[in-house]
Amino acid sequence: MLVIKSLHIIFVIAWFAGLFYLPRLFVNHAMVDDAATIERLKMMEYKLYRFMTPLGILAVGLGLWLWLGYGFAGGWLHAKTTLVLGLVGYHLYCGKLMRDFAAGRNTRSHVWFRVFNEVPVLVLFVVVFLAVLKPF
Ligand code: HEM
Repeated sequence: MLVIKSLHIIFVIAWFAGLFYLPRLFVNHAMVDDAATIERLKMMEYKLYRFMTPLGILAVGLGLWLWLGYGFAGGWLHAKTTLVLGLVGYHLYCGKLMRDFAAGRNTRSHVWFRVFNEVPVLVLFVVVFLAVLKPF
């Protein structure tokens, strides 16, 4: 079980690197207008999204393995899983925003993306405290 939990935490960290960095690329993308920079950002966003998606699947999959394979229970796990489903939605929405940028359809400002970028930070704090403290 401890090997699964170690892998769970490793892939959570790797997934969050993408959840933190992709919206930051969007902040920069919404501020630039020279063609060379825009093309480079499109390529970086595409490669990062393609890299972070399997990491997210592994992080969540290993969490479900811990939950269902080792009989964990409690309100903390339901609250945590609900928040993580929100994170999965955030990840998929980043995919939609990436495709909007690739097609030149983005209408949102860099300020909007700076606020959007903070969402995973808040969720990370709550989920880690739920997982470690198990308050209910
Ligand atoms: C559906 C997704 C997930 C499920 C079902 C899940 C489930 C679990 C379970 C059952 C444990 C073992 C708890 C223990 O050993 O005390 C665990 C540990 C942990 N999970 Fe998740 N997890 C999920 C996603 C995440 C995410 C996204 C994060 C980070 C934001 C996270 C952070 C942690 C941490 C830090 C631990 C270690 C807790 C400890 O050792 O006390 N998990 N998870």
